[in-house]
Amino acid sequence: MASSEHIKALLQSHLERDEDRFLSIALQVAAHEARSGHGKLAQDLRDIVQKARKPSTASGAVPIAKGLKDSSGLLYATTPKLRLTDLIAPPEVKDRLQRVIREQRHVAKLKNHGLTPRRKLLLVGPPGTGKTFTASILAGELGYPLFQVRLDALITKFMGETSAKLRQVFDALDEVRGVYFFDEFDALGSQRTTPNDVGEARRILNSFLQMIEQDQSNSLIVCASNHEEILDHALFRRFDDVVRYRLPRAAEIVTLFKDRLTAYVPGDFPWDRLAELADGLSSAEVTLVAQDAVKEMLIEDQDAITLPRLEAAVADRRGMAHDSNL
Ligand SMILES: Nc1ncnc2c1ncn2[C@@H]1O[C@H](COP(=O)(O)OP(=O)(O)OP(=O)(O)O)[C@@H](O)[C@H]1O
Ligand SMILES: [Mg+2]
Repeated sequence: MASSEHIKALLQSHLERDEDRFLSIALQVAAHEARSGHGKLAQDLRDIVQKARKPSTASGAVPIAKGLKDSSGLLYATTPKLRLTDLIAPPEVKDRLQRVIREQRHVAKLKNHGLTPRRKLLLVGPPGTGKTFTASILAGELGYPLFQVRLDALITKFMGETSAKLRQVFDALDEVRGVYFFDEFDALGSQRTTPNDVGEARRILNSFLQMIEQDQSNSLIVCASNHEEILDHALFRRFDDVVRYRLPRAAEIVTLFKDRLTAYVPGDFPWDRLAELADGLSSAEVTLVAQDAVKEMLIEDQDAITLPRLEAAVADRRGMAHDSNL
């Protein structure tokens, strides 16, 4: 039997003439029935929804996501075009990502032999090291849409009905193949340590663990966190792979700068000296330093960037990072 929440949501979406949402709730009811052992009813419901959706199947991917986005602001859909070569990271990180991409590309072959491709990933590491960027790259490489799920928003906005909202996300994941990115994933783990609502937070975490474990979809689940140390240990074994990011080393800093500045500096530019100056900055900060320097050069009508200009841009960034720590 559909829950009272489902009935209310169905009625509301009908009154709001939101057909996508209406059908997506109908699928939730089907999933609910399937879990309660009513397989036949679940299949009948799915068939009805499938038929109703037929005329618009060509653009099927977007309406469900849009429905979810419009109704709750939980999912944000984009179609990134980034590639793995855009990521500057140590070989162990790139190799792990490459392996995921290859397994996804051969999903049919693997499944025929009873094997599942890696598709549940946990990305951990300091801010600005490329975790969100990686979710876009995976979507870009695989040609899937990227759906960003804001867990912190989910928890603060919907405390009390979070598990139901999470279920909605996992149903979408089953319906529309894509990369589903759960950013600030630690919001789930860290909530447990706050004295308020400990029971509720534990419940949310448990339902998330259960959903991620039961999920049999073809979508990629990518979770990211800056705080590996506060993540619940039970989380780690639910993932097929854990990718650890770190701040860029000198050679990586040089590559990040070269990718963005080569056209604007003399051939004998002292890249190693610049890398020393920028030591300790994140990849995101290095990217911003390069952009700041190019902007200044253009605005001042100059035709090259000098080391002192970059030195000033680095100092400026460090100042900002320092201010934000106060
Ligand atoms: N490893 C990297 N290689 C190339 N560019 C990078 C890398 N890391 C970050 N960048 C650049 O910095 C921007 C911001 O990085 P991103 O948002 O991926 O960091 P993050 O690890 O998700 O940080 P946070 O933990 O704060 O969310 C990216 O869009 C990209 O332009
Ligand atoms: Mg991020």
